[in-house]
Amino acid sequence: MISSRVEQLSSSATLKITALTKRLKKEGKDVVNFAAGEPDFDTPLFIKEKAKKAIDDGFTKYTPSAGTNELREAIARKLKEENGIACESSSIIITSGAKYAIYAAMAAFLNPKEEALIPSPYWVSYPAMAIICGAKPKIIKTKERDGFKLTAQTLSKAISKKTKLLILNYPSNPTGATYSNEELKEIYEVIKDKNIIVLCDEIYEALTYDGKKHTSFASIGDAAKFTVTVNGFSKTFSMTGWRIGYLCADKNFAGAISKLIDHTTSCASSISQAAALAAINDKTWPSQMLAKFEERRNLLWEGLKGLRKIKPLLPQGTFYMLCDIKKSGLASMDFSSQLLDKYLVSTIPADSFGAEGFVRLSFATSDEDINKGIARIKSFLEALK
Ligand SMILES: Cc1ncc(COP(=O)(O)O)c(C=O)c1O
Repeated sequence: MISSRVEQLSSSATLKITALTKRLKKEGKDVVNFAAGEPDFDTPLFIKEKAKKAIDDGFTKYTPSAGTNELREAIARKLKEENGIACESSSIIITSGAKYAIYAAMAAFLNPKEEALIPSPYWVSYPAMAIICGAKPKIIKTKERDGFKLTAQTLSKAISKKTKLLILNYPSNPTGATYSNEELKEIYEVIKDKNIIVLCDEIYEALTYDGKKHTSFASIGDAAKFTVTVNGFSKTFSMTGWRIGYLCADKNFAGAISKLIDHTTSCASSISQAAALAAINDKTWPSQMLAKFEERRNLLWEGLKGLRKIKPLLPQGTFYMLCDIKKSGLASMDFSSQLLDKYLVSTIPADSFGAEGFVRLSFATSDEDINKGIARIKSFLEALK
């Protein structure tokens, strides 16, 4: 009875481990959670207050399907001023989480059998979404020596007549890698005349470390014409449960995507949109969060880098650290399961991100837990034969 498209999907390993971690915690076990995919901070109070006011003011009905004009205008302004993307509010569509923006864009562009190029390691939902659209996810393996980044050369080789879409995600979940302006220009030179849509997922934009500045792909040359920029409030403002994301695309593309929203979600939550409007111009919260995450990244890195049988990769962004565990002699899934079972440390096996031999550690947790987790990982590795 189940459609062949959905039959092809496997359930998310990330969600399985997360559920198991929560269950163990509920049972009173002292689990160190390096599996989290969301900031551990609560949503800032000034954002919550705006949501409460929206409820009290009766702002509780459907909004236009592309989102409220105020929020679309504020996002267009942000993208112009901060990201250098030439756009009007008619190019902006507000969605129920960035995840839905990505799905809606794929559904709007992909025809059956067309190819979506996905650099690996990748966020687990990209191939799944391409499959749901009846298209073919074509994985481009990137190399560790290139920092797990797509190069002009690997991209050129992967493009075929069937290629319709290229997905870029930086800072990247799970590698934490991000691209410099020059690296993006090289990709732009390869793709600019190919009639391919670039879907650029910049959800971790605000978490770029070492004083580096994030560059949006759509700000390069005429890339805005063929790029769908995706971003949202989940990670930047600790608002994962509010489900507010957005995309920016050429206004004809945005119109097509908006039709899809008309017939699927109708619109994103009105209350969450009001809350997002309060958040969008705030710079204090994201910069405080960035400073805290950078400290934690350094703490985890310092603690892991001297250990045997594990090689952490220093992330340039996000709150994830990918670790090479091939020297442990265990497959990713076995490493994560045994570490959780025996030492109560929860990590995500990265085989589901196309990176067998690696596990992903999230440092969206307290300094105390980071130190505790490092000590337990050390004991686990020492106990391995
Ligand atoms: C790379 C990437 N893109 C998109 C999302 C989805 O974000 P949202 O919560 O806004 O749907 C996530 C969430 O984990 C992510 O890691």
